[in-house]
Amino acid sequence: MKILITSALPYANGPLHFGHIAGAYLPGDCYARFQRLKGNEVLYLCGSDEHGVAITLSAELAGRTPQEHVDLFHSINLSFFKHLDFSFDHYSRTTWPGHVPTTQEFFRALQAKGLIEERTENHLYSEQEKRFLADRYVVGTCPKCGFEEARGDECQRCAASYEATDLKNPRSKMTGSPLILKPSMHLYLRFDLFKERLAEWIGKKKWKENVIHFAMRYIDELKPRAITRDSTWGVPVPGYPDKVFYVWFDAPIGYVSAAQEWAEQKGEPDAWKDYWLDEKTKLVHFIGKDNIPFHTVFFPAMLMGQDLPYKLPDEVPANEFYLLEGRQFSKSDGWTIDLETFFSRYSSDQIRYAIAANAPETADSEFSWKDFQSRCNAELLGKLGNFVNRVLVFTKQHCAAEVPPRGELDEGDRQFVEQMNRLVELASHCYETFHLRKASQTIMELAQVANVYFDTQKPWVLAKDPAKREKLLTVISLCIECIKTLSLIASPIIPASAEKIWKMLGCIGKLAEGSWDQICKTALPPHQKLGEIQILFRKIEDSEIEEEIARLGKKREKQTMTIPETAPTYEPLKASIAYEQFQPLDLRVAQIVEAVKVPKSKKLLKLLVDLGFEKRTIVSGIALSYEPEQLIGRKVIIIANLAPATIMGIESQGMVLAASLQTSLELPQIEKLPPGSVVS
Ligand code: MF3
Ligand code: ZN
Repeated sequence: MKILITSALPYANGPLHFGHIAGAYLPGDCYARFQRLKGNEVLYLCGSDEHGVAITLSAELAGRTPQEHVDLFHSINLSFFKHLDFSFDHYSRTTWPGHVPTTQEFFRALQAKGLIEERTENHLYSEQEKRFLADRYVVGTCPKCGFEEARGDECQRCAASYEATDLKNPRSKMTGSPLILKPSMHLYLRFDLFKERLAEWIGKKKWKENVIHFAMRYIDELKPRAITRDSTWGVPVPGYPDKVFYVWFDAPIGYVSAAQEWAEQKGEPDAWKDYWLDEKTKLVHFIGKDNIPFHTVFFPAMLMGQDLPYKLPDEVPANEFYLLEGRQFSKSDGWTIDLETFFSRYSSDQIRYAIAANAPETADSEFSWKDFQSRCNAELLGKLGNFVNRVLVFTKQHCAAEVPPRGELDEGDRQFVEQMNRLVELASHCYETFHLRKASQTIMELAQVANVYFDTQKPWVLAKDPAKREKLLTVISLCIECIKTLSLIASPIIPASAEKIWKMLGCIGKLAEGSWDQICKTALPPHQKLGEIQILFRKIEDSEIEEEIARLGKKREKQTMTIPETAPTYEPLKASIAYEQFQPLDLRVAQIVEAVKVPKSKKLLKLLVDLGFEKRTIVSGIALSYEPEQLIGRKVIIIANLAPATIMGIESQGMVLAASLQTSLELPQIEKLPPGSVVS
C-alpha cells in the first residue's frame, strides 16, 4: 500500500520545543518507520511553514528581513529533526519557488468554479501606523472564550479560528494603538458551499471523538473567509499585485509542493502524483490539536474544489498538548527545556522513548524530569538494556558467542513463545492505530516477560550440569530470539538502539531495511556469530536530574557560567605597553543578528553582527557558554579592525571580547549605546 504521511509544517519563526515534538512529529516518525517495516511504500513529508504575518512581525521585531528570519529557523529546526533521527523522505519549505505555481494553480481552479469572490468589507486599520493590520499584528478579546490577549486569526487559549474583525477591542500588536474599521477589498473563498460535502465526508470517519466533534462545530458555522492579505511576504495572488495569500491558504498546499520537490529531486517529476492523485493512497496528517480545523475542514474543502483528483485525508491523528511539569512550555518565563542543550546531554533514543511513553494521545500529558529519569533508568536500561546484556554476555561465555541450536520446547518455553507472539501482534496493532504510548508499554512488557523467563529457567544453573546442555541451548536460543523481536518492535521508537542490538546479534544489513513479517517469521540461523556487545543506555544520575529541575524557571544562562568556588588561579599579568600600542585598536559595540553553531565544532559559533554601518561575520569560541538563540539581539564588544582570518572554512571579520576565568566565560553587557559606538 502507498501511504502519504505528513507532520504539520512548523513555522520557521522560532525554535521548536519539546511540546511540538510530542504532538505532531515523533508520532509521525514512528508511524512512518513502522509502515516501512510493514513493506508499505511510504512517503513521509514535512517542511517549514515560512509565510504569514507572524513571521514578518517577528522578523521586524528582531531586525531581520523575513527571508533572513526563516532561513535561520529553517536550519535550526531541521538540525533538531536530524538530532532526533527523523526519517522524513523530504523536508521542504514553503519558500521553495515551486510552491508558488502550485498554490496559484489551487487558487485558479477554485476561481474557475466561481468559488472565489471579491468583497469590499471593513478591515482593521491603524491610523497611527497608517496601514491595515491583519492576523498576528492584531490582538484583542477572543469572540469565543473572552481571552483578552487573543491573536488576530486564532485564539491561543481555546484554539478558535476567526477573522480579526471578530475580535473585541482590537489593538495593534506593535504599538498597542486602537484599530478602526475601514473598507478594503479582499478575495473570499466560499467555504460555506462545502458544508454538505464536508459533513457527509466526515460523517463516515472513525476518527477520535474530539477531532470529529471539533470539525463538526466548524462545519456548522462555515462562512466565506478572506484568503488574501495586504503584504509583500507570501505567495502572490494572480491578478492582484499588492496581495499575497493568507498563510493558512498556502501552507497546507505545502504538503503537495513538498511531494513535488521530492519527486523533482528524485529525477521523476511526476512521482508525486502516484501519492497525491491516486485514490488508493492512504493519506495521514499528524497534527497538534490546535490545527484540527485546518486539516479537517478548510484544507479538505480546498482539495474538494480542485479539478485534479486529490486525495482527502484518511486519518488525522491529532494529539493533545504536552506540558512541562504541569505547566505550558513558555520560553519567556524560562519554563522550557532547550532542545539544543538537551541533545548534548541525552541520547536521541532516550528522548524519543520518554516522549513516546508519555505521548499526549487522549489527554494533555506532561514531561517531568523524574519521569524522564525513570523511563531511561528503570525501563530502557533496567528492563530492555539489562535483558539484552545479560543474555548476550551469557551466550558469549557459555555458547561460543553464537546463536545456539534449539531443541524440544517444554511447556514453559511454549508459553514464553506464545507471549512473545502475542506482544508482537499487540505492538503492531498499537503502531497501526496511533497508540504510541501503548506501543512503548508493550516493548517493556515483552522485556519484562523475557527477564522473568531467564530468571525462572536459571541458565547459570543449567550450565553446571552437562546433562542439561540441550535445555540450556534451547533457553538461550529463545532468549536471543526474543532480543531480535524486541529490537524489531522497539525500532520505530528507538531506531538507533534497535540497530545496535541488530548488529550485536550478528545480523547483516540494517534492521530498518528489513521486513516486519519476515523478521517475525524466520528464526535467526543456528550458529550465527554474535557481534560485539555494546552498551545501549547510559544511567542518568540523581544529581543530573536535580540540576535540571533547579534550572527550570530561571532565565537560561548556560551551565558553564557557574563560577568556580575554589580560589582561582590568576593569569600572570603581561608586560606593560605604551598608550601608543593600545591606540590603534578599534573596539566597537556590535549587535548580534544571527548566531548558529559551526558544524563539527563544540566551541565555535558563527555570528552575524551589526556595527550600525555594516554587518560582519565573526567566528567566536563562546558556544560552550551561550546558546545561539540567547545571543540574538545582544550587544557585544568586538575588535573591529583585526585582519580577517579563516576559521573552519569561514572568514571571520573581527573578534568578540569576553571575560574568562578557567572554563567560565562571560560577555560584557552594553545596556544603552547603539551598535557602532566606540569603546576605548
Ligand atoms: N505552521 C503551522 C503550525 O505550526 C502548521 C501548518 S500545517 C500546514 O501550527 F498544514 F499548514 F502545513
Ligand atoms: Zn478563545
